[in-house]
Amino acid sequence: MSRLLVTGGAGFIGSAIVRAALGAGHEVRVLDSFRPDVHQRSAADHLPDGVRILHGDVRDAAALEEALDSIDVVCHQAAKVGLGVDFQDSPDYVSTNDLGTATLLAAMERLDVGRLVVASSMVVYGEGAYRTASGAPAAAPPRRRQDLEAGLFEPLDDDGTPLVPDFVSEDARLDPRNVYAQTKVAQEHLSAAWARSTGGRAIALRYHNVYGPGMPANTPYAGVASIFRSALARGEAPRVFEDGGQRRDFVHVTDVAEANLASIAATETARDDSFRAYNVGSGHVHTIGEMASALAGPDGPTPVVTGEFRLGDVRHVTASSRRIADELGWSARVGFLEGMHEMRTAPLRPAVL
Ligand code: UD1
Repeated sequence: MSRLLVTGGAGFIGSAIVRAALGAGHEVRVLDSFRPDVHQRSAADHLPDGVRILHGDVRDAAALEEALDSIDVVCHQAAKVGLGVDFQDSPDYVSTNDLGTATLLAAMERLDVGRLVVASSMVVYGEGAYRTASGAPAAAPPRRRQDLEAGLFEPLDDDGTPLVPDFVSEDARLDPRNVYAQTKVAQEHLSAAWARSTGGRAIALRYHNVYGPGMPANTPYAGVASIFRSALARGEAPRVFEDGGQRRDFVHVTDVAEANLASIAATETARDDSFRAYNVGSGHVHTIGEMASALAGPDGPTPVVTGEFRLGDVRHVTASSRRIADELGWSARVGFLEGMHEMRTAPLRPAVL
């Protein structure tokens, strides 16, 4: 068993990892900044007994020295997530995610902590992988505002025929298309550079769309499942953007926590000076429209397809989670309908706004 530090351990995914890690017998410490735009200080009340909770920022070297003392392995979940409000958000993304990770890694070297699991995201692949109608691999061009305004949402090949989304493997080219995605790529590269230069062992988990009880609500950074869930709670229909055909893989937060535990164990046996990335998804693809219907259920209001779009959103992102199954023995357990059924009534996490 390890002495584990979870950064962002009071958050949605971090707190699920804390609960799973305690259940597995790890000694768990949390470092969390309790940012008011993300969650209330009382988020700490939801953490189980037996966890030492430190209030501090990963950019604060003094807070890190205390947090990392006698720690074996760090699970780095602290980050600013989502698409953000507008480009004025970019310095805060870069500071929180990139500078935060570099500051953490430097402190880990000083305190001789050599194992890391870092939260990454499918957004590192941008539009992901596609094939032409005849089956040849193809890349999706950047989305153009005029196409989106004209209701043309699918990426097209040179002849104007829709491309078919494919499953992305971890070896696919990284192609971040918004500021947040860029910070996740940078976090991975920083972790790889740290592993090379210090002999440390790092695993990056590229999460698909994580959902489940305790998801953040009513913030500009909330994921689509919690936005729909909040609308339903107000008695309103979920508002589905584009034509609702955007493809995603929804993975339950308890499964993501288990993927972290498998990775924590793997950093113990991995060779020194190593970095490995894994996709973390349920393996089942659904459209946003299907998700809205599943969440609303048979008695809920019928989702409305609005045709709105957000610049910076990718059209489809679907990845293969074979590598983590083959190498770490992890696969998701919670089924889509089962998870969405639970989500209908699951409590969300209010922010202080
Ligand atoms: C989400 C996460 C991102 C994570 C990534 C992993 C958020 C905000 N984003 O990105 O942090 O790294 O998964 O794959 O948590 N939509 C609607 N109606 C709405 C809001 C959104 O139809 O009211 C649609 C969007 O147009 C988009 C889809 O839902 O097509 C998913 O949106 P969202 O959950 O915000 O972001 P992802 O890009 O999937």
